[in-house]
Amino acid sequence: MTDDDCAVRIDGLSVAYRDVPVLRNVTLSVPAGAAMGVVGPNGAGKTTLLKAALDLIPRLTGEVRYFGERLGSVRNRVGYMPQSVSVDWDFPATVADVVLMGTYGTLKWGRRPSRESKRAAAGALERVGMDGFERRQIGELSGGQRQRVFLARVLAQDPDLFLMDEPFAGIDVASQRRIMGVLDGLREQGRTVMLVHHDLSTLTRICDRVALVNVELVAAGPIDRTLVPENLRAAYGGSSMDWAGADGGRE
Ligand SMILES: Nc1ncnc2c1ncn2[C@@H]1O[C@H](COP(=O)(O)OP(=O)(O)O)[C@@H](O)[C@H]1O
Ligand SMILES: [Mg+2]
Repeated sequence: MTDDDCAVRIDGLSVAYRDVPVLRNVTLSVPAGAAMGVVGPNGAGKTTLLKAALDLIPRLTGEVRYFGERLGSVRNRVGYMPQSVSVDWDFPATVADVVLMGTYGTLKWGRRPSRESKRAAAGALERVGMDGFERRQIGELSGGQRQRVFLARVLAQDPDLFLMDEPFAGIDVASQRRIMGVLDGLREQGRTVMLVHHDLSTLTRICDRVALVNVELVAAGPIDRTLVPENLRAAYGGSSMDWAGADGGRE
């Protein structure tokens, strides 16, 4: 696969927090137009993988290219939806504030949004079924509503590649359906998605490829060929029961 065929290409990525290695020599690429699930046990380094790929935390080694370029040259083509638990929900911001932030190249508070930005934000809120909530404080929303607002934020940016960290964690069935519908739409549009997911039973509904991670990359590829017992044991360890019902729990 050449760089041009890859929405993201991660090569030899290693990360440590202080002296503790958390990711070791991970090489992984996502073809343009694919939807790749990143799965593995709690603490496997999945969030760290996304953050390090996005230069949000330093890496020890490794190179990352997006559409063959460094992140700095294509930042607006790359969208990120962080894990809900990492967000400070007490931060005073309305739904409209949060979604409009997605339309800025970088997060800047206090800048006046353009008319196009407002239109993009309104369209995005409609896509996730959260129109009418513009003036609500994000802290007042349910878990599923928050996830939808954060999805709207990244939709408003309109990137070609979506990196999402557990968009389905801790949400109600209606929000789950809505988010799945939006992901289906993105794939129809030819967008690329790389998302951390904790539920192996719904993986095939959402993704066509999977990367199994546990500090190292255990395996990656089409789901049917990759999610085999040998790889699952290597990723989740112990008896097969550990991964048979693996839902990763809440972090
Ligand atoms: N800021 C941090 N400082 C120190 N250790 C961290 C930090 N963030 C995560 N870790 C540790 O790194 C490992 C991987 O974490 P993470 O990437 O969040 O895993 P996952 O998303 O797969 O659950 C875990 O052992 C976690 O405790
Ligand atoms: Mg995580």
